[in-house]
Amino acid sequence: MANTILVGAQWGDEGKGKIIDVLTEEADVVVRTQGGNNAGHTVFIGSQKYILHLVPSGILRPNKTCVIGNGVVIDPISLVEELDGLIRLGVAIDGQLFVSETAHLVFPYHRMLDEQREVLKGKNKIGTTKRGIGPAYGDKAARTGIRMVDLANPKRFATLLEQRIEEHNGVLRALGAPPLSFEEVHAAYRAAGDRLKPFIVNTVFLLHDAMRRGANILFEGAQGTFLDIDHGTYPFVTSSNTTAGGACTGSGIPPNRVDRVVGVVKAYTTRVGEGPLLTENAEIADLLHGMGREFGATTGRPRRCGWFDAVATRHAALVNGLDELTVTNLDGLDTIESIKVAVAYRVGDTQYDHVPSDVEVLSQCEPVYREFPGWRAPTNQVRNWQQLPAPARSYLEAIAELTGAKLTIVSVGPSREQTIFL
Ligand code: IMP
Repeated sequence: MANTILVGAQWGDEGKGKIIDVLTEEADVVVRTQGGNNAGHTVFIGSQKYILHLVPSGILRPNKTCVIGNGVVIDPISLVEELDGLIRLGVAIDGQLFVSETAHLVFPYHRMLDEQREVLKGKNKIGTTKRGIGPAYGDKAARTGIRMVDLANPKRFATLLEQRIEEHNGVLRALGAPPLSFEEVHAAYRAAGDRLKPFIVNTVFLLHDAMRRGANILFEGAQGTFLDIDHGTYPFVTSSNTTAGGACTGSGIPPNRVDRVVGVVKAYTTRVGEGPLLTENAEIADLLHGMGREFGATTGRPRRCGWFDAVATRHAALVNGLDELTVTNLDGLDTIESIKVAVAYRVGDTQYDHVPSDVEVLSQCEPVYREFPGWRAPTNQVRNWQQLPAPARSYLEAIAELTGAKLTIVSVGPSREQTIFL
């Protein structure tokens, strides 16, 4: 396998966890490069379900080096809990996991600010995961963040934390939220920091060393293209670069060392949180929720559901440079008689073949649909392309062509075996 960036080409939750797990077989190193514990990757191995938030899913395979890169924001307490959960399930961590010393930390004041800002926004709220992600990246950009390398240095950490808590308490009080106790936060973070210290390294050099030795690197994207802080449906986005470029800045691997970019999409569209979702459809949402599908891995929130939006995925193919396309959750459409795909957006006399930057304009658009016959047969037992019903093959070929990327993998269920390679 070549150095591969895997990104979500919709609004997150495309089923990347499973595809990363499948591709990890051929990778030596798996690296997370952005986001924080707002992400949730679900992987099934046999009947065992693993939900990962910060740790790359490569950890579930033996002898894979897993890196949490500099672009990630880390809540150390949540990371320790995640590690303990994995250890309880028998997953080996030591010697396999490495955490960037320049990754920024998420603190309770970030979570409280996230919550308070959502309250202040009222009906215009973003619908964040309330994990403090936006305020943590805000501090990073404002150059008032605290990093892993600071946590590893107890004296410096205490000084920085005291300053930051004093400053944030002023803001929290003004917003009507209770102030934080330095002693309490410090004690909890000190304990987590001591636990994490053995994992904290310069991951840029670790990754470059691995490349020199010929290792294959898989960049594990979190969230999706339209949640990207620059390319998403701003302000209804997350606070990191979820598109392919984020993999380079979030790891220290330059673009000319990346060999391919793989986009993951669902056979339909989902979104959690607020913001426009043009192809949203109550019927398909009821169908999928009724099957027990489409509830968030991090927050348990029911996801909003709609038809496949080829305008969005074509736009995603452009900004990510998608070489390949992986389609997941095909089996979610197994019972539908006629399947719609958005091929353009229209508002008045204007037609768009990309996602307009202004969310107000986007919200006024109507999708222009093309209809495809459903296959009305179960696909979850199918293991190769030829076995798929002909209408399913036509549908997959059409969405790959409309997106403008080569279809390489189709997933028909959560387990590793339910994967069709083309
Ligand atoms: P935040 O990342 O918690 O600030 O949330 C901002 C937006 O991104 C909200 O709409 C969230 O629902 C969405 N979001 C964040 N992480 C994920 C994810 O892993 N999957 C899907 N949506 C996400």
